[in-house]
Formats: sequence, structure tokens, C-alpha cells
Amino acid sequence: MRGIEQIPWLYDLLMHLAPGVERWRGKLVAGARGRVLEVGCGTGRTLPGYREDVELFALDPNFDVLPRACRRCGDARFLCASAEFLPFADDSFDCVVSSLVFCSVPDVDRGLRELKRVLRPEGRLLMLEHVQARSKFGARFLDWIQPAWTRITGGCHPNRDTVAAVERAGFVIEADSLRVRGLMRRFTARLAD
Ligand SMILES: C[S@@+](CC[C@H](N)C(=O)[O-])C[C@H]1O[C@@H](n2cnc3c(N)ncnc32)[C@H](O)[C@@H]1O
Repeated sequence: MRGIEQIPWLYDLLMHLAPGVERWRGKLVAGARGRVLEVGCGTGRTLPGYREDVELFALDPNFDVLPRACRRCGDARFLCASAEFLPFADDSFDCVVSSLVFCSVPDVDRGLRELKRVLRPEGRLLMLEHVQARSKFGARFLDWIQPAWTRITGGCHPNRDTVAAVERAGFVIEADSLRVRGLMRRFTARLAD
């Protein structure tokens, strides 16, 4: 069954109700430099926010979202692929970006390993994700709604601890980059030494 993430017009319509997220997307991608890969670009809401001098590659496993993404940024190169199987050589990118994606990636650890593989040693991972609630009540609530939420959205797990997964995968989150608002996290991470 298709969920919201697989229905491009509906996803974009609902995103108009979240202007705060749009601002966070803009701040996320403004920091990208050099050769950049965005994984899970969806309908391309982040794409107009990149600097003009980046060399941008954008991918999503859902082919149906790519025409919209392409309309938002004709300069990027688009691929239909998933984070867990990146069709790029090791050390290919200065920057990898993901915006609200790892809540939906089926195999988070494999996806993060792939991001690590394609990042150059001095590269940066820029991420915007929502995470599991910190309060016991909030966490229980998100655990409770997760099965229905995942079905309706088409893959999103509201109770994932993506920040912990990023650290477990061998990234170091740059402390002064971490921005927190409620369940949202925006940060830059580098490869651990
Ligand atoms: C909530 S949408 C976010 C889209 C866009 N990044 C944004 O900020 O609006 C999640 C996106 O992740 C994509 N996605 C799901 N599984 C994925 C995977 N394994 N690898 C890469 N992207 C994936 C979905 O197709 C969807 O477009």
C-alpha cells in the first residue's frame, strides 16, 4: 500500500502546513559544499536551497517523486536508488545530506555504512531528522502510534533514535552544530578518526 511519502502531490500539500520544517531544510543545505549527494530527496523540497557552486547528485528509491524534484532543480543529477546500495565509488563526496529520511530507511545501519563509504575522509554528513521522544510518556506514545503511522506515511518510524544510530555507525556529531527543537534534530557529523 502506498503511503503519503509515495504520493508526491499529497506530500507537498501536507508540507505546506509545516513552514518551520521548510526553514530547517534551508539551513541544513546552506552548509553543503563541493560534490554533494542528497539521499532520499523526495519531491526535492531542499534542492532550491543549495549554493549554486555545488555539484549536486540527488537520489530517491521512489521513481514517482523524481520528476517533481527535477522541476525544482534542473541542475542536479538524479538517480533512482536507495541509501543502502549507493551506486558510487568509495570517497566520492565532500558532503552527504539527508532530510527526514532515516526514519524511513528500512536498514538504517547499512544505509549509514554506505554514507560513510562514499564520504571523503574530510567530508561532512548534514542531517535533519526527527527522533524518539525523551520523556517516558512521549516515547511510549510514539511506540504506540508507530505501526499505524508507518502505514499511513509509507515508511516513517516516529520512534527511531537516528542520532544514536549515526554515532554507532562511526560518525562524530559536531557538538556546536547540533540544533534541537522538540523532536527535531539538525546537525553536522564527521567521520570518527
Ligand atoms: C519524509 S520523505 C523526505 C523527503 C525529502 N528529503 C524532504 O525533506 O522533504 C522520506 C523520503 O525518504 C525516501 N526513502 C525511503 N527509504 C529510503 C532509502 N532506503 N534510501 C533513500 N531514501 C529513502 C522516501 O522515498 C521519501 O522520499
